[in-house]
Amino acid sequence: MSEVRPTVVVTHPILEPGPTLLKEACELRMLPNQYRHPVDLLRKAAEGARGMVTQLMDPIGEGVLSTPGLKVVANVAVGYDNIDVGVATKYGVMVCNTPGVLDDTTADFAFALLMAAGRRLLEGDRFVRSGAFKGWAIDMLLGHDVFQATIGIVGFGRIGRGVARRARAFGMRVLYYDEQPAAPEVEQELGATRTDLYRLLSESDFVSVHVPLTGNTRHLFSTAQFATMKPSAVLVNTSRGPVVDEAALAEALKSHQIFGAGLDVYENEPDVHPELLKLDNVILAPHIASASVRTRSEMSEMAARNLITGVRGGRPPNIVNPEVFNQQR
Ligand code: DGY
Repeated sequence: MSEVRPTVVVTHPILEPGPTLLKEACELRMLPNQYRHPVDLLRKAAEGARGMVTQLMDPIGEGVLSTPGLKVVANVAVGYDNIDVGVATKYGVMVCNTPGVLDDTTADFAFALLMAAGRRLLEGDRFVRSGAFKGWAIDMLLGHDVFQATIGIVGFGRIGRGVARRARAFGMRVLYYDEQPAAPEVEQELGATRTDLYRLLSESDFVSVHVPLTGNTRHLFSTAQFATMKPSAVLVNTSRGPVVDEAALAEALKSHQIFGAGLDVYENEPDVHPELLKLDNVILAPHIASASVRTRSEMSEMAARNLITGVRGGRPPNIVNPEVFNQQR
């Protein structure tokens, strides 16, 4: 007799080999193609499903997590602030993410934003396209050097360290702020010095943010932090939008309290604060720091494998609440 294949919900399309792996192992329930699913739709879709493959725009709270029979929620992202992990644990639902595969891709992109904002690359592009470029001028679009500058890395996990590695290659002085000190050999390898946030902000020419979104990091960057930064400094955020108070950032950029910013994430994604949209000294990217063909495909595969392992009763390789699995033993 053939085994009953578990039903799983896929909230948004994912990349190969994810769909092939999922179809081999499960019955798929694909949701309609829309950016934000209403919570009610997610809750209804979960009924009778053993697992869900979710993405960062899906709010997964009590309504979904309390669904009888739901065992695994596999997020196709390293961040999982869209899922209430405490509630998942209460209902015995395993939550999984996709760590590791996107570190270098994201660090590359953070560095791209840093260089583009420091050297006014997009302003230059707009200048040329508008027909304003009439020839070389000594004071045209002056920016700030990246090489030998000081970078302050806020959040010194895998991605933050990837940025430090790139900064080293540019001869930069590396400061970092993290509640957890890195091991001395890591600090030595990356030439990184741990500081408090105040010193980091006041000494850095470039500040790159790599913290998860938690109660402690929401609006970690607001008026007081921008007031501490140098007028020549650039802020880069590829972590989560609500870590930066966008209204305060727009004010700091408008008044040239800081030189520039490069953002990949927004407080109320996909909306962008209207004041930021008016400014030339901020680069606005559409949450694409991990968007390379290889990385997005690896994230999809990882999420599919996490889900399949979990619905089959195994321990998903990237479970963020392992106590749920341990309790089931
Ligand atoms: C993540 O993985 O958390 C990113 O924001 C999307 O790649």
